[in-house]
Amino acid sequence: MLNIAIRAARNAGDLIQRSSESIGQLTISKKTKNDFVTEVDRMAEQEIIKLISSLYPDHSIIAEESGEIKGNDYTWIIDPLDGTTNFLHGYPQYAVSIALKFKNKIEVGVVYDPLRDELFTAEKGGGAMLNNRRIRVSKQTDLSSSLIGTGFPFKYPQHLDAYLNMFKTLTPATSGIRRAGSAALDLAYLSAGRLDGFWEIGLKEWDMAAGILLVQEAGGVATDFSFNEHYLKSGNLITGNPKMHQAIYKAIEPHVTDQLK
Ligand code: IPD
Ligand code: CA
Ligand code: CA
Repeated sequence: MLNIAIRAARNAGDLIQRSSESIGQLTISKKTKNDFVTEVDRMAEQEIIKLISSLYPDHSIIAEESGEIKGNDYTWIIDPLDGTTNFLHGYPQYAVSIALKFKNKIEVGVVYDPLRDELFTAEKGGGAMLNNRRIRVSKQTDLSSSLIGTGFPFKYPQHLDAYLNMFKTLTPATSGIRRAGSAALDLAYLSAGRLDGFWEIGLKEWDMAAGILLVQEAGGVATDFSFNEHYLKSGNLITGNPKMHQAIYKAIEPHVTDQLK
């Protein structure tokens, strides 16, 4: 099933790259404020679903643009284009994300960056790879030397103050914070040791399912803001190598409001 996820991600990535040459001609619609979708997102998603459902017609699917197809206990979680706003601006940071869950456990995760042809893959218990090379989270132990990724809660103004308080604590405490605009790629980068930690409020399951397995299989840790494992439900995620996860948790804990717990 990992091989099928890879094939589907590469097909979608090729389609995205071909479409990137004609961004100006795309029809862009707004789902909600600051949330855009194009026919590229939809076509890439259809490409993925077509392959998966032809091989596994009984499996369930949760896909960002077309919703849920109910089937058995295997669930494919699909973000056909993570970083749509970047893509629309020609900002070169976006990816395809595909995960497979069995019941509540993520078993397979693939994040594919079609621009750099970087394929991040993980299978539960089998480690994490970048283009067939084994990857590990960083060995950073010092928050003040760390590079941390994040995402802004641009869809959730009610959490902006809490987020800014976290940001205010972490900015001087680290050596840098990056907001690159694709959570799936941020997590893939974390699994490859390019970032030491990451946190975001209000992610969706398809933004993070594949990336979290990558991080865990690369030796990292992920929790929600209450130090539990309900991040796929709450959407609130703290992750990093074990030391940096702990350090970020400690830094943001005082700013976690009741709604974010
Ligand atoms: C978004 C990206 C972004 C994150 C947002 C997501 P999309 O996904 O992952 O980094 O901050 O929360 O919605 O909409 O481009 O697939
Ligand atoms: Ca996404
Ligand atoms: Ca998307």
